[in-house]
Amino acid sequence: MNALAAEIAGIIRADGPMPVSRYMALCLGHPRHGYYMTRDPFGQRGDFTTAPEISQMFGELIGLWAAHLWQAMGSPVRVRLVELGPGRGTLMADMQRATRIVPGFREAISVHLVETSPVLRQRQAATLAGLEPVWHDGIGPALEGPVILVANEFLDALPLDQFVMTAEGWRERLVGLGENGELAFGLAAAPETALRIAASADSMLEQPSVALDIVAQVAGHVAAEGGAALFIDYGSALSGFGDTLQAMQKHGFVDPLAEPGEADLTVHVDFERMGQAALKAGAALHGPASQRDFLLALGLPQRAQALSLKADADQRAAISAAFDRLIAPGDTGMGELFKVLALSSRNLPPLPGFDLHRLPDQG
Ligand SMILES: C[S@@+](CC[C@H](N)C(=O)[O-])C[C@H]1O[C@@H](n2cnc3c(N)ncnc32)[C@H](O)[C@@H]1O
Repeated sequence: MNALAAEIAGIIRADGPMPVSRYMALCLGHPRHGYYMTRDPFGQRGDFTTAPEISQMFGELIGLWAAHLWQAMGSPVRVRLVELGPGRGTLMADMQRATRIVPGFREAISVHLVETSPVLRQRQAATLAGLEPVWHDGIGPALEGPVILVANEFLDALPLDQFVMTAEGWRERLVGLGENGELAFGLAAAPETALRIAASADSMLEQPSVALDIVAQVAGHVAAEGGAALFIDYGSALSGFGDTLQAMQKHGFVDPLAEPGEADLTVHVDFERMGQAALKAGAALHGPASQRDFLLALGLPQRAQALSLKADADQRAAISAAFDRLIAPGDTGMGELFKVLALSSRNLPPLPGFDLHRLPDQG
């Protein structure tokens, strides 16, 4: 048992089994042992790779998307460019480089980063030296005036609660202790009588309350103050039942209870519910589109071709491999598993990237 597992076991012995959301929050954000507090987890030697780390093309296209949005907003002289969970700062750096060609954009924006990890803040400071980013612990202070907000693989890192349908109704899934004192999943003794969603026996319901609150907060802000937000993540366009909690270490799946704080814990994002929360908060919705359709509509093939013209043979092979990985369907690529959802103030025209193919449920 590692140090964080021992600490969690102590909390359970004192207070009883804990909700999955509390377990996730401790694993990811514990000040000394939390996954993101202690490491830079990206890349081949780390635990996972994200789209901005796969290719500069991803951030460049999103940069041009942001600059187009800024023009559609009437080219305001001051606008905050906010990123939630910026990782190594690669996406923001690529966005900035690509938008040098847009007159006035870089002078108009100030960069605001919402990041809890001290290790990654240091990394972002190095990557983004010269841009003078302002860091925030939480979303509230980052939102001021008109904003353009991007969040890639951020919502999937936010803690959620899980409930299982039993003969007595929904019962919360909890993290407790097994027979030998090891961390083990179990169910709350009493059913959740307030939960009235019909489902068949053993169905699992996930409640992403933290993510829903953040999406609603961002949506309410852009609706009132102007601008738009882009959320990119793996997940489903339609709500459903199922256990999506997963732990990843060294690019493979592991038991989420085995080594708390040593593996990345994530969940799939329910884009239908995120969209509903955004609509309720007053924003206009764009998508969700698949990452494939979004990047193709933004001109990924043209960008890959332009880069290839200046590249040697090895570089061309790398560009081609990255292109495939970003848009391939199925388990090998990110093209269909990842979805893109934008929220905006209601006075904006349709946003680029959402006009090619709509996912079937979007009509
Ligand atoms: C999976 S990484 C994605 C990084 C980056 N967006 C990318 O695509 O490479 C998640 C990021 O969110 C940050 N993060 C996780 N939970 C957070 C929270 N509650 N508040 C702010 N940042 C958080 C992590 O430190 C990390 O920078």
